[in-house]
Amino acid sequence: MDSIKVTGGHRLNGVIPISGAKNAALPLMIASLLTADELILENVPHLADVESLIRILTNHGVDYHVEGKRRAHNGQQGRNIAFTAGEIVDTTAPYDLVSKMRASFWVIGPLLARMHKAKVSLPGGCAIGTRPVDLFIDSLQALGAKITIDGGYAVAEATGGLTGADYTFSKVSVGATHVAMMAATLAKGKTVLRNCAREPEVTDLANCLIAMGAQISGAGTSTLTIEGVEALHGARHRVLPDRIETGTYAMAAAIAGGEVLLKGAQASLLQNALDVLVRAGVEIEEKNDGIRVMRNGHGIKPVDVTTEPFPGFPTDLQAQFMALMTQAEGTSTIRETIFENRFMHVQELARLGAQITLDGQEATVHGPSALKGAQVMATDLRASVSLVMAGLVAEGDTTITRVYHLDRGFEHLEQKLSACGAAVERISA
Ligand code: EPZ
Repeated sequence: MDSIKVTGGHRLNGVIPISGAKNAALPLMIASLLTADELILENVPHLADVESLIRILTNHGVDYHVEGKRRAHNGQQGRNIAFTAGEIVDTTAPYDLVSKMRASFWVIGPLLARMHKAKVSLPGGCAIGTRPVDLFIDSLQALGAKITIDGGYAVAEATGGLTGADYTFSKVSVGATHVAMMAATLAKGKTVLRNCAREPEVTDLANCLIAMGAQISGAGTSTLTIEGVEALHGARHRVLPDRIETGTYAMAAAIAGGEVLLKGAQASLLQNALDVLVRAGVEIEEKNDGIRVMRNGHGIKPVDVTTEPFPGFPTDLQAQFMALMTQAEGTSTIRETIFENRFMHVQELARLGAQITLDGQEATVHGPSALKGAQVMATDLRASVSLVMAGLVAEGDTTITRVYHLDRGFEHLEQKLSACGAAVERISA
């Protein structure tokens, strides 16, 4: 198994190109199941999760091809991939494929909408929490689906098709919003979805569905109104920039010191996190071609944060922010409200010398700590990148094992950081 070695003590200076968002690309790819025509997605990142989803989609009968090589910025740019679900040959998503990635459960929405049936393996728990699927099942039932759980599968049927409904989510869920919205595009009549997630990736999916002929209003608000149509058609859509990758590299520049241009990043996608960084003493400047992040000389101030659904501080930046706060001049508290078990990085950061106390959903970080390199273990995607960040300021070498977690969601991580002067290398087993 590969590992990543980071030698601390190098500032970051240069340009980091921001990739297409993983969490937008995945639902957009799933949307290709809704039409027999070609859906071309531009700027799809090279990630293990994208490859896993391609395997699921091809199992349903989706054909795909990657458009030819393009002259890319710094040699790094996502691919343009065309997906065509001309004929769906299989409405079952088997356990061995779904268990690799939770988002693959989301195929249940388009399959039900277009084929009126689906049998999708339940994803099971994951490292960051139990992550149930009750909201998916409840909302699809509201649209007229009959769903039973049998042998570890959600078996869903909507004889004659789904029907529009007025439905309120009891809790904000990104995935359940994606799925109910996709399902409603082909339901009979009007659907109103309330208490929806407002994450930019939901808006990106809505915009793509609209380009495919769906009638959706309210994207970006908590109420989505969808008038069902007979069929959707093909479209070409560019995946929006990854706001979590943007925030991660902004925090990496903050922890290591230096100045980086996050090329292609959009500040409006992560305003809350950028405001937090400004309060921590980081200089942020919005440019035409991205975001410039700078920390030269002055120290980092402690800032308290609570994770919340968008537009609040994202849970997907919580671990990275905790790494940054280990270097703050004082004590900060970080409260996690989205997932019940998303603090596994605490023990690993402690191995590097961080002083963090945990009380339920709240972590108190006592900064600043002089970190010292050690061998640490990646436990999930965002936790693993927080260890890379801590390694940037730790004395000596930090070796992060189980880097397959990183490969799920960070495109060319070592290359992007090394190009800015960091000493980060992959050690192939
Ligand atoms: C999406 O996961 C993201 N994944 C996650 O990114 C992100 O952390 C999360 O949204 C929150 O922003 C993708 O987009 C692929 P949720 P999702 O449903 O949709 C509970 C990353 O590192 N819930 O909004 O699975 C759930 O347990 C990741 O890239 C139910 O109770 O998250 C959680 O507590 C990991 N019942 C809360 O809702 C349900 O049926 C929010 O989860 C569904 C969810």
